[in-house]
Amino acid sequence: MGAGFAARLIRWHKRHGRHDMPWQSTRDAYRVWLSEIMLQQTQVATVVPYYQRFLGRFPTLPALAAAPVEDVMALWSGLGYYARARNLHACAQAVMRAHHGKFPRDPDVIAGLPGIGRSTANSIATFCFGAHAPILDGNVKRVLCRAFGIEGFPGSGAVEKRLWSLAEDLMPTRAGDIYNQAQMDLGAMVCTRSKPRCAACPLADMCIAKAAGHTAELPMRKPRKVVPQREATLLVLLHEHRVLLETRPPAGIWGGLLSLPELPAGSDAAEWVARHFACRIIAVSPAPTLDHAFSHFRLRIAPLVMAVKPGRQTMEPGLTWLAFDHLGSAALPAPVRRILESLYASGNKPLDSRKR
Ligand code: ADE
Repeated sequence: MGAGFAARLIRWHKRHGRHDMPWQSTRDAYRVWLSEIMLQQTQVATVVPYYQRFLGRFPTLPALAAAPVEDVMALWSGLGYYARARNLHACAQAVMRAHHGKFPRDPDVIAGLPGIGRSTANSIATFCFGAHAPILDGNVKRVLCRAFGIEGFPGSGAVEKRLWSLAEDLMPTRAGDIYNQAQMDLGAMVCTRSKPRCAACPLADMCIAKAAGHTAELPMRKPRKVVPQREATLLVLLHEHRVLLETRPPAGIWGGLLSLPELPAGSDAAEWVARHFACRIIAVSPAPTLDHAFSHFRLRIAPLVMAVKPGRQTMEPGLTWLAFDHLGSAALPAPVRRILESLYASGNKPLDSRKR
């Protein structure tokens, strides 16, 4: 598996990879770490001027750790993903506190610092300390998924685990720094997300995605969650400027809130209302449907508005006739409040004309 994979990349990098970026002329972990953090989610050309300005103001890790975080944020301004800057500052302080100001060498220890994941820790450890540690950033994931025809979303636990294991297996015993840089460069310059330049790729004749014509499909995108759609008819029973509300059971959606009663699917509204609410229906009017998104399903609500006359029987517990004037302070779910507000907007008399 992957015979010559690393050798091909290292050879390719000699002629075609990046060699003269400002952070490549040093093995100082502070500078390499800074570059790796800036290069996360940001292109090289954007990073270079920020990197130089940052080092002009904070030439050493102790200088960064001693600065107010606001100064760090100001120098980051425009680079985006500002958690990176906050973590950078926290990390400098952690290195001062826990490592006497000296960047740790062990990849596992580096990965325990604020804002540094396993792949970034391994980059730093290979570039600065000659560690034997694979990387797996977005570019590398793309290269591996295509070269080895790995299906599934690379951000998912199972696929990521498989990719890490593959990355470990492919890691060469020597020139780990050049190999890691080569993978990043290949991903950024040749094996790009769209329109990869396969003709210039040193892996072209072993690439499974290329052979299958699947470079556009790999790596696979994050699957869209299919959210089920449910429908509910909510009854808006009105009587003398009051609306009938029921307290929802404590478990389930809108638990414990006051809501409009739900008409069970397939039930006859008139019969249900007479039986459960001891009411006689005077007029009926449907209202526009309303969609509401819950975390695990979408609900399409069809309100059914009815003017009713309550009978003499006592109602089931949990039911309340609430005056419109008191709706403002009632514990209503947002979509129920929206339904009621749209009905009782001043001058809106939805039941005036439609007699049963
Ligand atoms: N992205 C993250 N680290 C990088 C590096 N060292 N060179 C190029 N792109 C990168």
